[in-house]
Amino acid sequence: MKVLVVGSGGREHAVILALSRSEEIDHIYCAPGNAGIGALAECVNIKATDIEGMTAFAKEHADFVVVTPDDPLALGMVDALEAEGIPCFGPDKKAAVIEASKAFSKDLMHKYGIPTASYEIFDDAEKLMARIREKNTYPAVLKADGLALGKGVLIAQNEQEAEEAVREMMIDKAFGASGSRVVLEEFMTGPEVSVLAFTDSHVIYPMISSMDHKRANDNDEGLNTGGMGTIAPSPYYTEDVAERCMKEIFVPTMNAMKAEGRPFKGCLYFGLMITPQGPKVVEYNCRFGDPETQVVLPMLKTDLFTIMKAVHDETLKDITVEWESGSCACVIEASGGYPQKYQKGYEIHGLDEKGQHEGVTVYHAGTAMKDGKFVTNGGRVLGLCAKGETLDEALEKAYAAVGPVGFEHMHYRTDIGRKERNLK
Ligand code: AMP
Ligand code: GLY
Repeated sequence: MKVLVVGSGGREHAVILALSRSEEIDHIYCAPGNAGIGALAECVNIKATDIEGMTAFAKEHADFVVVTPDDPLALGMVDALEAEGIPCFGPDKKAAVIEASKAFSKDLMHKYGIPTASYEIFDDAEKLMARIREKNTYPAVLKADGLALGKGVLIAQNEQEAEEAVREMMIDKAFGASGSRVVLEEFMTGPEVSVLAFTDSHVIYPMISSMDHKRANDNDEGLNTGGMGTIAPSPYYTEDVAERCMKEIFVPTMNAMKAEGRPFKGCLYFGLMITPQGPKVVEYNCRFGDPETQVVLPMLKTDLFTIMKAVHDETLKDITVEWESGSCACVIEASGGYPQKYQKGYEIHGLDEKGQHEGVTVYHAGTAMKDGKFVTNGGRVLGLCAKGETLDEALEKAYAAVGPVGFEHMHYRTDIGRKERNLK
């Protein structure tokens, strides 16, 4: 069986590492991939959003395709591949809208009674600002409707910040066309938990929970990023919370998508906040999270490819999905300056010829090969990931590799899981 994985980040590296353990797969392609992924898969230089190019390649070379990033899913890559008779893991375009439009997902939750922050949708900057002034409740949460690389959310602490945010989104179009419509939301409080789930639209199997650290700096300060580190499971996700989520959020969301004629097949990501009133949805993603996947998939005991095929064939109810006990932690090494301007091309030290380092799994995100050496090639460069019987052990192992593996102007958070390790 030949499998093609679409994408090029740490998340794709984690998916490919899990797939490489499957006895059914004898060759993995990754398009476009990166230097670390190249040790496990044959990288093919096709852009992740090139639907025509990807379909042409898949027709010739692949028996199954895993579409991981949000852009190609929202553009309908799965529809194009399936139309050519190539089975895929990932939602079609109609279902991917659950992430691609915040307005759609908020309306869905409202219609089906799924707990989330109350909201209003605006496509006119003046009306939005008038409403914010009228409400006079801060912080005010403003979200661009469309995909914005996880950065389309602005939280205003007062009227002046709200004015700036509205201008940035709707007038200066800082997030492009995705800011023409803006969702104004109630501000929620509580710990955030990510739950990824396998679903074939008939049953839904949540994976173990995880927790991202989205801000660039320690103590959750600085700008929002794609994610600076993760732990799994999350200590905030108790059995009681999990039960409520299953009943009030996961199953209702799967059924709502089916009722809307948009059955969701693939990995559905629930960004949750455990508020004083109970768990509520912050956001949905139509795909594996990054860097959540890097700590969740290493804990999976069941063959990932078996699950992916069952999702495609809509036979998920016939298999059981098993998880290891213990914890997993991932620390992201980013380029200095990320998520704003940064330099590329610094040599990365501490990696063997496969891009790995003893004692941890090194997931490559923004890396490239230059003159036989690994060099930095993006904002988030590496994820150093380790498992342990306890969260403490996992974190200690991951952080032990941070000094030995690194590069010039490296930036990382020193407090991944720090609060959580003291909770237990
Ligand atoms: P999102 O892209 O919707 O996940 O939002 C990015 C981040 O903004 C979330 O992870 C939260 O930390 C924060 N956020 C989003 N919506 C809210 C809300 N209604 N109340 C409080 N914080 C929020
Ligand atoms: N870690 C958040 C995301 O993948 O969107």
